[in-house]
Amino acid sequence: MRSLSSVKMVGGNFLSVILLMEIIVNAFIFGVDGLSMNYYLMSCPFADSIVKNTVNSALQDDPTLAAGLIRMHFHDCFIEGCDGSILIDSTKDNTAEKDSPANLSLRGYEIIDEAKEKLEKQCPGVVSCADIIAMAARDAVFWAGGPVYDIPKGRKDGRRSKIQDTRNLPPPIFNASQLIQMFGQHGLSAQEMVALSGAHTLGVARCSSFKSRLSAVDKDLDSDFAKTLSKTCSAGDNAEQPFDATRNTFDNVYYNGLQSKTGVLASDQTLYASSITKNIVNGYAFNQAMFFFDFQRAMVKMSRLDVKEGSKGEVRQNCHKIN
Ligand code: HEM
Repeated sequence: MRSLSSVKMVGGNFLSVILLMEIIVNAFIFGVDGLSMNYYLMSCPFADSIVKNTVNSALQDDPTLAAGLIRMHFHDCFIEGCDGSILIDSTKDNTAEKDSPANLSLRGYEIIDEAKEKLEKQCPGVVSCADIIAMAARDAVFWAGGPVYDIPKGRKDGRRSKIQDTRNLPPPIFNASQLIQMFGQHGLSAQEMVALSGAHTLGVARCSSFKSRLSAVDKDLDSDFAKTLSKTCSAGDNAEQPFDATRNTFDNVYYNGLQSKTGVLASDQTLYASSITKNIVNGYAFNQAMFFFDFQRAMVKMSRLDVKEGSKGEVRQNCHKIN
């Protein structure tokens, strides 16, 4: 009797171990949120390469759009999660996120449209707009010389896009503590926030985003660089200032700029001025490989923010409007 029950116990334990292992393996393959690297393997096997080819050929024509695609992914994920809400057009009853002042300079929408059009021809109604943005951002990073990484897929598109939600995007006047707090609300650490800010290795800011820095003496702004910024602003609020000396190349020059007090936005320079984040900046300025490693991990983490699954979302037929 006794030996029979111990056999049963051992058998039961063995089964539990197998079950546990299966759960762990599934979580690894599919991710805890149901996203997976192979999500479109059966339903749209060429989804990744269709997006990649579309992005590559668009960036060949206009390399500056790499910045636009990466920023679009960030602005999508921080509002309502990574659900393509940034792509929805305003209607007569609703002003959408994209018409918020914080989003008016977003660029690259036409690349997402082109990829979606090709995907709809190949596999209609399968690939979400949210996944297309996440893939396009990944391809833009690599195209510009940044790290190669893959992102899990399976995000559904959201049905809400409201201008008032965009107050949750960080303004360029935030200091390090405010940025840490805001990113923390999304489960991102200070280190991840500094790594993600490294996306400012690409692209430009308009004068309106930094001119408030020029009205008083700023001890965290190099005096020659202040003159450069003022000169840019003399051409008006929409005049563009590259974030670093290599605006189309994904590298760590942005962090070197912060060390020499030539960060463009107050929210860039604060990362070096603050004792909490200064050493992270120094680390990335010294070691580009470390920046690349942390950046791609943080991008994947950001790409998983509040994703919608199942009936909580849909696969939009047209990225501009809900089905
Ligand atoms: C840390 C908080 C952040 C703030 C306060 C911030 C703010 C801004 C501002 C004000 C601009 C310029 C907009 C304009 O003047 O037209 C900008 C541009 C940009 N941002 Fe951020 N950003 C932040 C984080 C991020 C993150 C996390 C990413 C992506 C992972 C990102 C990617 C970009 C890119 C690539 C551009 C250049 C866009 C272009 O040239 O079209 N930013 N950001």
